Amino acid sequence: MLTPSLILTADPHFLDLAWVELARVQPAAQRGAVLAEGVWGITAVNFFTLAEQWRQQPPIFARHICPVHLALPVAGLAEDVPLLAEAVGGDLAAWLDPELPFSVQTRILADAPYKPFDVNTAVAHTIQQHTAAPLDVRQPTQILSIVVTAEAAYAGISLAAHNLSDWAGGMHRFARQPGQISRAEFKLLEALAVFHIELPAGGVALDLGAAPGGWTRILRQKGQFVTAIDPAILHPSLYQDKNVRHLRLNAESYLQQPPDHYDLIVNDMRLDARYSAELMAAYAPYLHRHGRALMTLKLPEGDGPGGSRQGIIEQSRVILNPVYTIAGARQLFHNRSEITLYLKKIAPGMA
Ligand SMILES: C[S@@+](CC[C@H](N)C(=O)[O-])C[C@H]1O[C@@H](n2cnc3c(N)ncnc32)[C@H](O)[C@@H]1O
Repeated sequence: MLTPSLILTADPHFLDLAWVELARVQPAAQRGAVLAEGVWGITAVNFFTLAEQWRQQPPIFARHICPVHLALPVAGLAEDVPLLAEAVGGDLAAWLDPELPFSVQTRILADAPYKPFDVNTAVAHTIQQHTAAPLDVRQPTQILSIVVTAEAAYAGISLAAHNLSDWAGGMHRFARQPGQISRAEFKLLEALAVFHIELPAGGVALDLGAAPGGWTRILRQKGQFVTAIDPAILHPSLYQDKNVRHLRLNAESYLQQPPDHYDLIVNDMRLDARYSAELMAAYAPYLHRHGRALMTLKLPEGDGPGGSRQGIIEQSRVILNPVYTIAGARQLFHNRSEITLYLKKIAPGMA
């Protein structure tokens, strides 16, 4: 089997679209082995060329890439760990910039009697014997990625900014918080992190499709005054909070009132993507001049009678484009069959 030059990871339902994104910028790319659901070895592509292309124009569906500089056989036994530490840590340490913080990120895609943490710790330990580069697992600038399958371990070094995500395989994890209302909270936290969105202290936010209230809770945690729109009821804890106003109606009815003006609009409504985009376009006049918006675009799991997933995204873009700049579009780790868009209002006179 040909050793891949890089490893591509995407949600298994969207791996085909990640491949289309890759083939568009690297037409000579070849798909190699499927290493696990949603994880492909790719050959005939220079990692750094692709990473630079994607750093400048990020893909939507490709969630993570990492280079392969070294491939080693593994046995699926505890002895793999010291062998990996010796070979990977020893051989690749010289590739690290001694000035920049590094971390080791291991993914294990097969049954093995060891965990990613065991490999990370052992390899980082060996590396520290060979280089002065500081270990920083929270904010690494350079990452040694290791992917372990049933037969082989693949390792490579890259800048975190080249991997599409600072997290192993793009699996952006958050700890469960006390008082958490919904899993959807992770989706908003991830979007704020990925798109580098800082919310203004005391900002005024509109949450369309708010129930049961996870996004509203996160927005409150970040100091926003929130108007929550949803015909369904919110979690009881939110009714104790005087800085949450729940209007028990749908987004269409609130538009007729007319609405107040907001710094931020978020929309997680379970609606056809194009219809949801039309509603977002109708809400644009109610965003302040430098207002921003986040929305999920719900997509079918495959291309079907309702249109291809790329077609649906394109139609939604066409609806949003006159009033918003699409500043980001990603299929986030916490998105299911959907992508998240980050929108900036086009202020009148700027279009
Ligand atoms: C996925 S849930 C939102 C979860 C929420 N973001 C959270 O963190 O708890 C989708 C919500 O959209 C609401 N919804 C669907 N169509 C709507 C519409 N036209 N106007 C307002 N809300 C709508 C549903 O009632 C449902 O509560």
